Amino acid sequence: MARFSDVWLSELYTKSDIVDVISEYTTLNERGGNYWGLCPFHHEKTPSFSVNREKQLYYCFGCKQGGNVANFIMKIENLTFGESVELLARRCGLPMPQMIDDKQYRQVKEKKQQIAAMHKLAARFYHDTLMAPEGKTALGYLKRRGIGEDAIKRFGLGYSPDKWDSVASLLAKNGYSAAQINESGLVTAKNDKVFDTFRNRVMFPIINVFGEVIAFGGRVLDDSTPKYLNTRETTLFNKRRNLYGIDLLRRQRSIKSAVIVEGYMDVVSMYAHGVKSVVASLGTALTKEQAVLLKRYTNDVFIAYDGDEAGEIATGKAMDILEAEGLSVRVIRFDEGLDPDDFIRKFGMAGFAKKVKAAPTTIGYRLEMKKHEFLLDTEDGREGYAIEAAKVIARIDSPIRRERYAESVADQTGYSVASILSQMHKKNSNENTNANYRYNKTEKTAADGSQSAFLACAMADVRRFADVADDISAEEFPLKSHKNLFSALYDSVKRGIQPTNAELLSQLEDEADRNEAARLMGIKAAVDNPLVFLKDCIEKMRVERREREREALKEALRGAPVDEQRKLLAEIGEIDKELNQKRFE
Ligand code: GTP
Ligand code: MN
Repeated sequence: MARFSDVWLSELYTKSDIVDVISEYTTLNERGGNYWGLCPFHHEKTPSFSVNREKQLYYCFGCKQGGNVANFIMKIENLTFGESVELLARRCGLPMPQMIDDKQYRQVKEKKQQIAAMHKLAARFYHDTLMAPEGKTALGYLKRRGIGEDAIKRFGLGYSPDKWDSVASLLAKNGYSAAQINESGLVTAKNDKVFDTFRNRVMFPIINVFGEVIAFGGRVLDDSTPKYLNTRETTLFNKRRNLYGIDLLRRQRSIKSAVIVEGYMDVVSMYAHGVKSVVASLGTALTKEQAVLLKRYTNDVFIAYDGDEAGEIATGKAMDILEAEGLSVRVIRFDEGLDPDDFIRKFGMAGFAKKVKAAPTTIGYRLEMKKHEFLLDTEDGREGYAIEAAKVIARIDSPIRRERYAESVADQTGYSVASILSQMHKKNSNENTNANYRYNKTEKTAADGSQSAFLACAMADVRRFADVADDISAEEFPLKSHKNLFSALYDSVKRGIQPTNAELLSQLEDEADRNEAARLMGIKAAVDNPLVFLKDCIEKMRVERREREREALKEALRGAPVDEQRKLLAEIGEIDKELNQKRFE
């Protein structure tokens, strides 16, 4: 994010009027100084989507989300901040800024563009070859596997001829030097000889979110090995950061959920049968980066890996990675020996829809797996399963959902719901697996009246904020979004900048933070004397923080050893004295 200078960004925002930009996506009408329209992010009949030209912000009162023009593009086009900025710059004809370390940056960028251009040529060549007489066998192979022309076109499938230098000479003919060709990964050098990496293979172009071909996977037409070859890593291609099928997924307007499979063929075949939101990791275990990428498009994923032991192990790992990124995951398993391609060819879309409907959550799936480890028709087996199941259930945040799963375990083992839940607490207090949940809860319930008021006023009058900035610190804000917002404001004024709302938003990396900032920016702070108001807020926040600390001490008092209790009580007394004094000031 820090790649773009404040000066350049502010020029971009000036040239990309938010009302003009958003009008390209939804019709806006002026009413009471604001522009209103139907929210492009949720279905509604009466407009609750507002755009403020003066502040260069949008905010939807329906989905409670908002931000500046770049944030809008991020959401509607499913792009990162950097990509959105680039798109806006192209739109208004503003040249991209010289990046920090610009020489190196430009060199890398140029190299990437070159490799992408070579891949474009190669992809067209492979595809044309597949459709030409030379590709007859390969085309026949795909047809036999149920892949029709439509899917072939949509995925840009191709065929690499059985020659040593078809692509090498094609690229040379197009003016690329031997060194450049070598860097593309399309050729391989061995013992002083250079030859095409892919020969006599069905070609699967790997396409990134910009629609650029960045690499290939190539499959043999028979049982020879290696079955698949992938482009080696290049300046352009990092397989940890890409997903096969992501381009087609991105281009869909509303994505409810996505399916993750293991293989190229699975993606193509599922798509051909009507499952349109489907991606595959690129022949490796799913990575964190891929989970983050997927999360840009949907929060709900189904893991549908091969029905073998390797697929089962990979499923366990993928669940953890996806859940760590906050995705909601369900698991589909196929019968032994079937992969998604086999399954959907056998049972069709209807069969797959049934699998989706019946897919357990990760908790349900983990319980199911544990169950198989025990013999439930023995006393020991039921006991063992109940104890293991309690550990799985302890991972659930919601007490109501916990009870639901505990009930089903109770049914299966004969133990009571109460003892399963208390077994779980036992485990839980040791391992503290729920730290995350508790944190979220305090986030939501923390009182935030004075913090909100302070931030709203500070953003409306950054100059006054600069006067009091040093009287307050980020720790006064219990909400993470407020803390980040304060830090962004603080950093700006310390650099001598009085950011506009739009600029401030561009400094916030987290979508939740931007939504909260946009909400606060929308608050009309009718304050007579902002300086006095800000100072009052600071005072109030300080009192509130001390009150929170007092609560925490009281909490700690419970169950503390006697000498510890004495210390805690002294601290509480200290706070009481301080708070009382304030009351008389
Ligand atoms: P089909 O046999 O054509 O149905 O392939 P598939 O899509 O079912 O692939 P499979 O489940 O065998 O493998 C999953 C993925 O792992 C493939 O799509 C490749 O990305 C990768 N892969 C499989 N075999 C190889 C191999 O021999 N070498 C490399 N580098 N990758 C492989
Ligand atoms: Mn397969």
